[in-house]
Amino acid sequence: DAAEKGGYEHYMRKEIHEQPSALRQTLSSRLDVDRGEVDLDLDFPQGYLESLEEIQFVACGTSYYASQYTAQLLEEFADVRATVTIASEYEFEGGRDPWRTLVVAVTQSGETADTLGAIRRAAGAGARTLAVTNTLGSTVTRETNDTLFIRAGPEIGVAATKTFASQVATLALLTVAIGRGRGALSTADARDVLEDLRALPGAVQQVLDEEEQVLAAAREYQDSDAFFFVGRRFGYPVALEGALKLKEISYDHAEGFAAGELKHGPLALVSDQTPVLAVLTTGADGDETRNNLTEAQTRRAPAIGVVTAGIRTKSLDWALEVPAVGVFEPLVANVYFQMFAYHIANLKERSIDKPRNLAKSVTVE
Ligand code: G6P
Repeated sequence: DAAEKGGYEHYMRKEIHEQPSALRQTLSSRLDVDRGEVDLDLDFPQGYLESLEEIQFVACGTSYYASQYTAQLLEEFADVRATVTIASEYEFEGGRDPWRTLVVAVTQSGETADTLGAIRRAAGAGARTLAVTNTLGSTVTRETNDTLFIRAGPEIGVAATKTFASQVATLALLTVAIGRGRGALSTADARDVLEDLRALPGAVQQVLDEEEQVLAAAREYQDSDAFFFVGRRFGYPVALEGALKLKEISYDHAEGFAAGELKHGPLALVSDQTPVLAVLTTGADGDETRNNLTEAQTRRAPAIGVVTAGIRTKSLDWALEVPAVGVFEPLVANVYFQMFAYHIANLKERSIDKPRNLAKSVTVE
């Protein structure tokens, strides 16, 4: 067991630290930065991408947040309408030609019953389906028209970590493929996105090297009443994922909000006992979010902000820096949130790899 954990005390920490190599595997030989092209080995029929009307994501848990991240990438870079629905709530609604709707099941395990149910409803109604999964031979791969593997390697910890990063990276490649296929993304713009993607493993490594800082913050705030995570745009799903991670493994109360919503209710809960963790990077409308964070600080909330390196930030209790990688900065910010959740839970001696009441893969609806 100890050998399998490669010297780490928990699988979760090992998997957090595996993210640079997992991401390299995810991206390996799939992108050609100079040409602004990607190769995903997907055989969409001739003319399919041009005629595509909508992409609908179905997913649960962490995979749902990866899908929310991607829907924004698709709207920004591929000029296609993208919706995201929690799999257990999904009913297929397509236009007159359901085949022109691509329904994408994002599922690490490929076995989540809610997600399988949703994809079956979509396929039954005549939509084209695509699985995005980490698991070769999983059920979802047999029930969809195409499969895209995220190649993160096995994930043992119940709380998803490296698979979230690899899901978003894979789906970013898909975004570029669709944008190029639809003629919506120029070579130059594709190159910019792919350059940022290529820089992602190194950027994540730089954040991992700051673990001591995160441990110190976790020590300072471990006894808080609750933890709030806020973000905008690409930072919003990351705020939700940050809160999910913390509640899953520490059993503390943690909630994620769209930063602009703080003032519409959650501020009533804010005190000096509720740290607010904010994504303030590029791709997350940092300035507006900073203003929302200030409103919480006025109510004496400790403020932990993840910022783009080199951008001056005033009056944060903790400023955690991520290297400049454009729209992927919130994804890198998430690595700070993973480490924060891990250390809070570890200080409390929680059962990190197998939290109470949770399963790695939920095979009942
Ligand atoms: C379970 C796990 C979560 C995971 C979710 C979806 O609830 O505990 O970590 O995000 O299922 O799993 P999937 O395999 O479909 O991505």
